[in-house]
Amino acid sequence: MALVITDVSAGYGGVTVLRNVSLALAEGEILGVLGRNGMGKTTLIRCLAGLIEPTTGTITLGGENITDLAPHERARRGVATVVQGRGIFPRLSVRENLTMGRVAGASARRDRTDEVLGYFPRLGERLAQAAGTLSGGEQQMLAIGRALMTDPKVMLLDEPSEGIMPVLVQQIAAIVTAINRQAGLTIIIVEQNVPMVFGMTDRCIILEKGRIVAQGSRDEVSRSEVMKEYLAI
Ligand SMILES: Nc1ncnc2c1ncn2[C@@H]1O[C@H](COP(=O)(O)OP(=O)(O)OP(=O)(O)O)[C@@H](O)[C@H]1O
Ligand SMILES: [Mg+2]
Repeated sequence: MALVITDVSAGYGGVTVLRNVSLALAEGEILGVLGRNGMGKTTLIRCLAGLIEPTTGTITLGGENITDLAPHERARRGVATVVQGRGIFPRLSVRENLTMGRVAGASARRDRTDEVLGYFPRLGERLAQAAGTLSGGEQQMLAIGRALMTDPKVMLLDEPSEGIMPVLVQQIAAIVTAINRQAGLTIIIVEQNVPMVFGMTDRCIILEKGRIVAQGSRDEVSRSEVMKEYLAI
C-alpha cells in the first residue's frame, strides 16, 4: 500500500474534527473525497501533509510511519500537497515557484520541469510572470505543477476546481488523470464537484462531521443514501 491511514482523529484546540478515519490507498490509485462544507476534508489533508498533528492514529507512506514527521520531511519522502486556495508565492515568478517545488522535494530525484511544462504549456509561456498575476486557473495549474516538481509518490489536492470556470476544470481533471496514468502517482483529490471526481476516480469516500459515512466505487457511492442526501442539497 502506498498510503495507509489508521484510526486518525484530529482537530483544533481540543475540538475534534476528524474522527477515527481509516483508509488505505494502493500505489497509483486515485481516491476522491467528497463532503459538504466544514465536514473535515481539509483537516484530513492537513493531517496527511503534517500541518496538524493527529490526536490518535497513524499514517504510513510505503510502509514507513510518517505520523510524527514535519511537513518538509514528508515532502522529501514524496508527499506533495496542493492546498485549498493554491498557496503559490504571488511575488515570485512562475519559474521561481516551480524551482521552490524542486527544492522541497528530494534533491536526488529527477528534474521534472520539462514534463510539468508539457502538461501545462500555459505555464511555459509565462515563466517570467509574477505568479500573483496569473489567472485563477493558471494559478491552480502552477500549484499542481509545483507539487509535481517535488517528484512525489503521493499527491494531495484540496478542491482544485474551486473558483475555476468549467472548461478549465475539465482540463485540470484531464491533466491530473494523465499524471496519474503516466507517472503512476497515487492521488487524493478533495472536491465539491461530484461529476469531476466521478470522472477521475476509482473510489470515493464521503466525509460527514469528520467520519467516513460512505465509500466505494462511483456506482456504490452514487447509490448510497448519504449520496442521495448530499446531491439533493
Ligand atoms: N484552524 C482552525 N481552527 C479552528 N477550527 C478550524 C480550523 N480549520 C478548520 N476548523 C473547523 O474544522 C471543521 C472542518 O473544517 P475543514 O476545513 O476541514 O472543512 P472542509 O470539509 O474542508 O470544508 P470546505 O468544503 O468548506 O473547505 C470546521 O468546523 C471548521 O470551522
Ligand atoms: Mg476545505
